[in-house]
Amino acid sequence: MIYLDNHATTRLDPRVLEAMLPWLTDRYGNAGSVTHEMGREARAAVEDAREGFAAVVGAVAREIVFTSGATESTNLAILGTASRPRSGAGPGHVITVATEHHAVLDPVAHLERQGLAVTRLPVVGQADDGVPGRVRMADLEAAFRPDTFLVSVLLANNEIGVIQEVTEIAARVHAHGAVLHVDCAQAVGRMPVAVDALDADLASFSAHKFHGPKGAGAVYVRRRGRAIRLDPLVHGGDQERGMRSGTLDVPGIVGLAAAARLAAEGLDAEGPRMRILRDRLWAALSARIAGLALNGPALDATDGSGAAVRLVNNLNVGVPGVDGQSLLAALAADGLAVSSGSACSAESPRPSHVLLALGLDEDQARASLRFGLSRFTTADEIDEAAARIAAGVAHLRSL
Ligand SMILES: Cc1ncc(COP(=O)(O)O)c(C=O)c1O
Repeated sequence: MIYLDNHATTRLDPRVLEAMLPWLTDRYGNAGSVTHEMGREARAAVEDAREGFAAVVGAVAREIVFTSGATESTNLAILGTASRPRSGAGPGHVITVATEHHAVLDPVAHLERQGLAVTRLPVVGQADDGVPGRVRMADLEAAFRPDTFLVSVLLANNEIGVIQEVTEIAARVHAHGAVLHVDCAQAVGRMPVAVDALDADLASFSAHKFHGPKGAGAVYVRRRGRAIRLDPLVHGGDQERGMRSGTLDVPGIVGLAAAARLAAEGLDAEGPRMRILRDRLWAALSARIAGLALNGPALDATDGSGAAVRLVNNLNVGVPGVDGQSLLAALAADGLAVSSGSACSAESPRPSHVLLALGLDEDQARASLRFGLSRFTTADEIDEAAARIAAGVAHLRSL
């Protein structure tokens, strides 16, 4: 099996497993049981992890709330902000982007069903001038209302890898007195992430996207300067300062912090390496498959400030003249783990909402492949994957 589906999840790094193992075996104390040594050592491990993780993402320890992953983090950030008391007239208004992950779109839709107003911003289309997938600042400005209290944007998209101009978005959100949540799930280990530099108020993270364990995540809740308050979704033992009750998953939290540290330490070497392999995959595929289209921003594009506009590990291509479902089935049978869109919606036959928002039609969106590389991807795997995909496409086109 050649695994190129690292936007869906990543392999647990053996060094992370090693850091977690004592907390899964001998050191099983409850981090809330501080009356005895085993509880206290678990508590100390959690607080070390909190400090370490905070340092990696540009936060301070007291701003980190541990959760079960990015879906819980986005729900806590969005619903926990919305249920706070608000002053002023109007039902309350939330702005998000049409191409967000469902972990954001669905809690926002839940608020809409409860009577709040929602704007889902369009993005620059594939055929438009500008960076495909980015939000236009004019659209954002036009969306604000007097009762806008929350804006939620993805730092880096999980399908087309586009990186939003979050700092610029933050300035506009704050000028309108609203709170900014940034879904950073895909960014760690693939680009520098600093919540203070982004000027985010809330940010969501997930360990399994950067070689940590599944079921461990965090939400950043700004305390410095503007202090943000959230109502909890889960009530109980008052863990995590009452924002997320429940016995802490000590191994998961230790794994999250270890994985984040490795991601930060490795980024300078792993980022360029993934970029080279990703570009090699695109070169090999486009040389062999006639009419292959790139979905999302140009691979080497930078913006006015010289910053990359696409994640180094992401590729998304459209394969004209084949049926998308048949192509995915053929590639899976050939030992390739790739997808046509978000893993969380892969079971539904609907085409990717991200590709539709770029202006692709349903057939084009269905006949698209998303690749995500990781620190474990090798050049041999890239060459072999390209050969298998080209052969699969040639076969389907010959039928
Ligand atoms: C951008 C983005 N946000 C949120 C999530 C949800 O993360 P988790 O699997 O930790 O709930 C994902 C995972 O697919 C994602 O890619």
